[in-house]
Amino acid sequence: MPLVTTTEMFKKAYEGGYAIGAFNINNMETIQAITEAAKAENSPVILQVSAGARKYANQAYLLKMVEAAVEVTGLPIALHLDHGGAGLSPEDAFLQVKSCVDSGFTSVMIDGSHYPFEENIALTKRVTDYAHSKGVVVEAELGKLAGIEDAVHVKDDDAMFTDPAEVQEFVSRTGVDSLAIAIGTSHGAYKFKPGTKPQLRFDILEKIGKLLPGFPIVLHGASSVDQTYVQMINENGGKMPDAIGIPESMLRQAASMAVCKINIDSDIRLALTGAVRKYLNEHPDHFDPRQYLSPAREAVKQMVIHKIRDVLGSSGKA
Ligand code: G3H
Ligand code: 13P
Ligand code: ZN
Repeated sequence: MPLVTTTEMFKKAYEGGYAIGAFNINNMETIQAITEAAKAENSPVILQVSAGARKYANQAYLLKMVEAAVEVTGLPIALHLDHGGAGLSPEDAFLQVKSCVDSGFTSVMIDGSHYPFEENIALTKRVTDYAHSKGVVVEAELGKLAGIEDAVHVKDDDAMFTDPAEVQEFVSRTGVDSLAIAIGTSHGAYKFKPGTKPQLRFDILEKIGKLLPGFPIVLHGASSVDQTYVQMINENGGKMPDAIGIPESMLRQAASMAVCKINIDSDIRLALTGAVRKYLNEHPDHFDPRQYLSPAREAVKQMVIHKIRDVLGSSGKA
């Protein structure tokens, strides 16, 4: 089976009240860990590549390794550009997304969420028209999530929930296939202030679900920041005080509603870093990368199995 788009996955997920995991990839170990986990659970999966990942690994390497994962697992796998265009001018944003469409991605995100409504629509429509002409699906974003990643910088004060009054017009004028919304999640490992109660605006999600029946909604910034790994990092020379994520019960609730795609990157980083720190701390004389990357890959695999089985609900849906 070749790489697939997300169309079929989302249709089944919407109807079945579950979500597909979209996991960020940067190297061979993360690709293997995620796809081996999906294989173990017989689950469809989305592998997503950020601008930072393209810069780090060189897109050509990632593409070939993803092709290998498709060949090895035989699973329905979509290859997705994460936060396409972030931090770029509209022209450069279009060219970046176009290069991914032209090189074999089956799904792209155009992130025009930092632009005013009309400019977000214009850029998103341009991308959607091009991607659809090549059989590639498009995710867009309305509203702004707080948090800092390589190319996505939004200060807490600038974060903005999605306005349900805008979603119908945005979707119908752009023709997008899915929409990322802001309901209180954020990127990175520090999502809520210590001592505060994690909260998401399920009322906004519910309103949007009613306004766009059957339409797939995407949740970014959805890592749970498992305290086992935070502790493992802190106990082995790391320093991540007050790292807090989205409770898994909230992700399950979102998956049972209109959310069909749940983005997870920080949880992969935490599992991998925790395992590497622990291994090197316990084996100070080892220096073969295969020795410390094997438990790291296994930690990511087990984390993804848990997400698929116990949180997303996509086991057995491949
Ligand atoms: O939303 C962003 C993803 O976590 C990717 O992060 O830009 O640091 O690769 P990155
Ligand atoms: P996390 O930082 O919560 O893993 O979010 C990742 C994400 O949204 C990638 O687009
Ligand atoms: Zn994101």
